[in-house]
Order: sequence, then C-alpha cells, then structure tokens
Amino acid sequence: MTQEELFKKLIAHCKEYGFIFPSSEIYDGLSAVYDYGQMGVELKNNIKRYWWDSMTKLHDNIVGIDAAIFMHPRVWEASGHVGAFNDPLIDNKDSKKRYRADVLLEDWLAKQDEKIEKEIEKGRKRFKENFDEAQFRATNPRVLELQARRDEIDARMVKALNENDLEGLRQIIIDAEIVCPISGTRNWTEVRQFNLMFDTKIGSVAEGANTIYLRPETAQGIFVNFLNVQKTGRMKLPFGIAQIGKAFRNEIVARQFIFRMREFEQMEMQFFVRPGEELGWFAKWKETRMNWHRALGFGDDSYRFHDHEKLAHYANAATDIEYRFPFGFKEVEGIHSRTNFDLSRHEEFSGKKIRYFDPETNESYIPYVIETSIGVDRMVLQVLSAGYKEEKLENGEERVVLAIPAPLAPVKAAILPLVKKDGLPEVAHRIKDMLKYDFNVQYDEKDSIGKRYRRQDAIGTPFCITVDHQTLEDNTVTVRERDTMEQHRIAIDELPALVKSQAGMRALLDKQSITR
Ligand code: GAP
Repeated sequence: MTQEELFKKLIAHCKEYGFIFPSSEIYDGLSAVYDYGQMGVELKNNIKRYWWDSMTKLHDNIVGIDAAIFMHPRVWEASGHVGAFNDPLIDNKDSKKRYRADVLLEDWLAKQDEKIEKEIEKGRKRFKENFDEAQFRATNPRVLELQARRDEIDARMVKALNENDLEGLRQIIIDAEIVCPISGTRNWTEVRQFNLMFDTKIGSVAEGANTIYLRPETAQGIFVNFLNVQKTGRMKLPFGIAQIGKAFRNEIVARQFIFRMREFEQMEMQFFVRPGEELGWFAKWKETRMNWHRALGFGDDSYRFHDHEKLAHYANAATDIEYRFPFGFKEVEGIHSRTNFDLSRHEEFSGKKIRYFDPETNESYIPYVIETSIGVDRMVLQVLSAGYKEEKLENGEERVVLAIPAPLAPVKAAILPLVKKDGLPEVAHRIKDMLKYDFNVQYDEKDSIGKRYRRQDAIGTPFCITVDHQTLEDNTVTVRERDTMEQHRIAIDELPALVKSQAGMRALLDKQSITR
C-alpha cells in the first residue's frame, strides 16, 4: 500500500469511528474546517492535557492563561499581522485555480529532490557495495545538473520572498516551467499579496462598529498579559506563560486533511528571559520539546529539526520540529527566539511601559522571549498516522488497530461481559462504575467477543476487560492488551492500578527528562 493510499484509509477511518468529520457535512462541508467527534475530542483533550501538564506541572516557573479570541485591533498592527501576515497568491487563467506562489515553488523543489533521490537509487543499484553516495553526488553529471538548477531556483525564491518581490516570484515560476496541475498550462496572472486574517465587526452599526480580527495566533494574548501575570504571580525571570486556544487563518491552499485548517488550535508558550541569555534558552527548549515528542514512542527517526536559514527580521534563531507524516516530513512545532520584538512593539503602540524590574541587577528592561508553538490538530494527525496499522493475524484474519500511546487513548478500557446473562453484565457494570471516575471507560455487550475486540482495537483502547463465569467464582477477569493481544487473568481489585500505571498521564510525563 502506498503512503497516499494509507493516508486515504486513515481519513476514512477517522470518519467511520467518530474521530473527525468534515464541518457542516450535511451541507457538503466547509473547506479546510473539521469537527471532532466523540473519539476525536477525547484524543484531542488528552493531547492538550499532555502538553499542559508538561508545561505547567513539570516546570515550577511556567503558568497558564486563557485570553480572549477577540483582541483590540491595534494588537495586530503592533504585532505586524495587519501589514505583513500575507500569502503571495497567483491564479491560473485557464483553470481559474488560485495557488500560493511559494507553495508552487516548494512543490517544484520537492520534485527536484525526488528526482535526485531516484538517480542516487539507480547508482546504488548499479554500483552495489562499492557505492559511495557522497562521491556520486559530487560527480554524477545528471545529479549535478539537477542540484544546480534546484539550488538556483531555491536561492531566487528565498531572495524574492525576503524582498517581497512579487514580480520576481512570478518570473521564477515561469522560469521553472511550472504548470497548473489542473489545466496543464503556464498561463499565470500577476502575484498578489493576500492577508490571512479573518475580520468581523464588533458593536452595532448605530454605535459605530469597529473592525476586529479573529486571532491568527494565540501568542499575542500572552504578550499583552505579560505584566498582569508577572505582577500578580510575582514571577521572576526566567518564567513562561502557556496558553491553548483557537486560532484562525484564511488559508488559501487547504490540503492534507487537518494539517492545514482555517480554524485550528494552538498550544503556545512564551518563555521570558534576560537579554543575552536567549540563545542558551533556545537550545534548551529545542531539547525539551524534542523530548516531549519522542516520549510518545513513534521512533526517534520520525522527527527532525529544520533550522531556519531565512529568519524573520525580529528573530535571532528559529527551528521547526518536523514529523514524518505519510505525505513527508512536515512542521508540527515552531521554536523561535523572538528577541524583545513583540513586547517592544506593544510598548510603542499602547504607550504603556512593559518593563521587568530585575531585583538582581537593579535594572528595568524589556525581556527577551523564546516561543514554542505547536498545532493541536497537527499533533492529532501525528498520533493518528503513527498509530494506524493494518495487521494480518496468525489465524488469517485482519485487524485495524490504533496503536497510540495508552495515556492519549480516547477510551482506556472496555468492560465486556462474555455473555448477556448469568449475572455477568451486573459484574461488568460494577467494574465500570469502579473505574469511570478516573478513566474514560466503555461497557459493551453487543456481538461476539472477537467483534468487540476489533471495535476497541479500531479506536485504540489499550485494555479489554472480559467478565466470564470464572469471575463469579474468584473475582478475577481476563485483561487483553491491545498491541500484543495477549491475555492474562488478574483480580478485579488490581484493575485501577493496572490502568493507571499504563494509561494514566503520569506514564507519559515520566518519560520526559526535564532538567531545570
Ligand atoms: N506564534 C507563532 C506561530 O503562530 P506558526 O508557525 O505560524 O507560528 C505555529 O504556527 C504552529 O501552529 C505550527 O507549527 C502548526 O503546528 C500550527 N498551525 C499553523 N497554521 C496552521 C493551520 N492552518 N492549520 C493547522 N495548524 C496550523
């Protein structure tokens, strides 16, 4: 099965088992907007809990807030979003389709990389054990030609984007001979800038309505509350403020399911430090955040850093953590050293002093900031695509299993009476009542036990607890583990400790090595 087919199956699975639905589906959906179903919301809440607890419980110096989505319109002038939160767009005149010019070019670059990889594969097959990849890259004429062209277009694209040279961007698209995937022609319009913020009106028309924006990131809610939190919490540098919340962007290229949405959720943390200490903290947060991802157990080689060469004017270091999705390595999290840009701008635009008095140096200054910013929905996609497996069993049957970390599983345990009689349902209900205050558990008595196991595998339930006739005699049940499908008998009294040890959030939090 190709990765593309696998991804399509995953999307269908998400719908069939109540994880993710297209928004307003009965009206044929709304592009790049999705709803989380009964399983999806549990998974999403668990991911948020994992992040929130990692930030606020494992660090003494990080606190959380929940700022409003609506903010004063001046906030977005200060942050630079009104002036510069733009995508360069280009239309194909024949298909009337609209594209992001930078995405067209990035797709073209990715294709060149694939062509180079294919040449290298050919070389590997030809030279077998004598193959030296570095030498091949440095000498093979076809690889050299492809690489040179790729690098030339890449360098021109970076320059044009940095200089906001829209005519230059169009020319590169023409020079790279990029065609519209729909019409197959090169009949392109000019490139225009398009602001990604959604706007709306606040107040009635009679009162004089004002245009306000749906926030395109949660970070600004943290910056404008810096002094409130610092003063009321008597926080000393270095310290962090964490927030989880919705953000909105009018994305033009909406692709890859919940990877790029118009309404999505972010988990952002701004870590305020002394000027001059930011790069040390940047390195520390890179490590801490990578450990957080790796603790999920999806394999260390499923992640990589993509350090930015091209930095935003306010940043002095930036990296992305990329995960290997079925459609390639893509960003899930950004870590940025944002200097004192945001707080300085808010000081300038609001006219209010935003300074920290450092009792150790007796100085007042605007702190520097390290930001970690991760998309909740991209994490949901990461967990689902890492966990989705189609397995052939020894008895010839097949099963689909979501092998996701037990602490993130929507349902921790299913309690299954073997038959619907002889008092077994009553015992199963008692077990459910014992567990339900601490864990999300399900009772299921419908269909054969095998079918019930399959249903639980498909939603990623780590434990199936079966109540049988022996239970009535000795108060033991069988516990079937999702991944190994192994079964063992344990006493009913031992169930809470078992579920807690493997499916409680602590099991994940313990895996991170947080150094203070
Ligand atoms: N405050 C910094 C900031 O917003 P960003 O790189 O634009 O930085 C951070 O976004 C994270 O938010 C991304 O790494 C991604 O996980 C998520 N994200 C951004 N745009 C998204 C979208 N349209 N749909 C889903 N997630 C998105």
